[in-house]
Amino acid sequence: MKKFVIGNFKMNTTPLQFSSYLDEFLPRIKECKTNIIFCIPATHFHVAKSRFDATNIKFGAQNISCEESGAFTGEISSSMVKECGADYTLIGHSETRRRFKETLESLNQKIIRALAVNLKVILCIGETKYERSTRKTKLSLKRQLDSALKGLYENELKNIIIAYEPIWSIGTGKTPNVKEIETTVADIRAIISDSFTQRSADKINILYGGSINESNFAQFVKIKGINGLLVGGACLNPKSFANICR
Ligand code: PGA
Repeated sequence: MKKFVIGNFKMNTTPLQFSSYLDEFLPRIKECKTNIIFCIPATHFHVAKSRFDATNIKFGAQNISCEESGAFTGEISSSMVKECGADYTLIGHSETRRRFKETLESLNQKIIRALAVNLKVILCIGETKYERSTRKTKLSLKRQLDSALKGLYENELKNIIIAYEPIWSIGTGKTPNVKEIETTVADIRAIISDSFTQRSADKINILYGGSINESNFAQFVKIKGINGLLVGGACLNPKSFANICR
């Protein structure tokens, strides 16, 4: 099965700088069969749309509003994102959860809004350092998953990718070991199986994210049950990111 590699640009580069980045990146991945997705600021969508037209690369937003339209200054709706050519949106990245004080209910609403306009969702979940040290990882992930996927039909899960990103690992250079990730991914599939079916648990794509770089990524792609990677800091270097994608 083809693996996913998602680059989360966060708030980095201007649209022009992103275009120069692509000058370096695109020639390096010509024969690459990986499912590559760029999660970029909405200001970069026009660049992505024109540059990815003749490629298999997809792009997505880093967040959307939980509202459909109206007096919500500063927000961007799922239909706006979709109409600009995006196929995906991140939902519930730990940075947006924290900075924008996203509630579990609002994240569920965002997922419903995304799916309603055929935007695929990359749902980020992960435990804090404290939850990990007190062995509450599975409980925490279950709470995040149950609330996020509440009310969804089983057939909608095909439009959801789960990105397992331990919060303590994002941007810190620290990662769980292979065994720990394998166990957690099995736990995530068990949670999905309990709420939906074993079939959907087996089929759902689960990615790992958190301090991935060019030297450590290979061990993570090989982990049983992992369907790809979500890369933050290391995706900003076009050469490194192209190597990871390849
Ligand atoms: P990182 O970020 O790769 O810089 O740790 C991952 C993420 O935030 O998705």
